[in-house]
Amino acid sequence: MQELASQTGSQVLRHRHLLGLSAYNAEEISLILETAREFRQILERPIKRVPTLRGFTIANLFFEPSTRTRISFELAAKRLSADIVNFGGSGSSLSKGETLKDTAQNIEAMKVDMAVIRHSSPGAAHFLTRCIKGRVINAGDGAHEHPTQALLDLLTISEHYESFSDLRVSIIGDIAHSRVARSNIFALTTLGAQVTVCGPQTLMPVQIEKLGVQVTHHLDDALLDCDVAIALRIQRERFGASLVPSLREYNALYGLREDHMHRNTGMIVLHPGPVNRGVELDDSVIEHERSVILDQVTNGVAVRMAVIYLLASDSN
Ligand code: CP
Repeated sequence: MQELASQTGSQVLRHRHLLGLSAYNAEEISLILETAREFRQILERPIKRVPTLRGFTIANLFFEPSTRTRISFELAAKRLSADIVNFGGSGSSLSKGETLKDTAQNIEAMKVDMAVIRHSSPGAAHFLTRCIKGRVINAGDGAHEHPTQALLDLLTISEHYESFSDLRVSIIGDIAHSRVARSNIFALTTLGAQVTVCGPQTLMPVQIEKLGVQVTHHLDDALLDCDVAIALRIQRERFGASLVPSLREYNALYGLREDHMHRNTGMIVLHPGPVNRGVELDDSVIEHERSVILDQVTNGVAVRMAVIYLLASDSN
């Protein structure tokens, strides 16, 4: 890891944990992205593993379903030679009434150094920092934040654009329930991007403008000049069926189709996944050469390696 240490110098994160990006400044976000670019190169090697965190142990606490994030953190830990244990709510003593605090403290008592948590309750990651001594990474807490998703989005965007300054990014869909939207808004505006949010009134938080974004309810306006379109998943599990009349109508008004790709021939398209095909994105958009959805997933491992490495390296 000599080469990585020389690249990042003595720079460290100001924070002990990664709970969200609202508190991270441009230097810290840039440090994570720079470090992730180094790890991204290592992931292209035949042997994709470095010995950096040998002997370090991470608990992956996932109380909500996940494919990308859980596997990505697991791979990131393994690529760094750390040990990782996966914990899910079902089948554990939580079903016998044990609290999150007791569960976490018992896991930490087995000499775990860091916890990654996904939970349906906003603030669960903050709460965990008050229960355990180790570092905590938020892997998505309700509709609050999903910081590593936004960081991997930024890394992916940076592969196509040199600077975030004045980059025009449109975030489309269910803004109100989206932790991905919130983390992206914080990080992108911190780095100087112009962010527009677009979606139906019922899925738009009140006073969202106060976060420094433009608001539109018309997809054509959002896509007219944008450099990057981030489509969000419709989160039916968080609001039921009541806020959108039908998925067909949602697709007609806010779904990205091939004609949108023809009208804006420069924009790249991101989606955090899982995609509801034919709702947020038509098949032709998912498979379009300017869709970078699978690059996001690849970059997720490098970003999570960077976050784990930087938090584990910091002796604060
Ligand atoms: N983007 C994301 O968080 O996906 P998963 O729910 O599969 O982890």
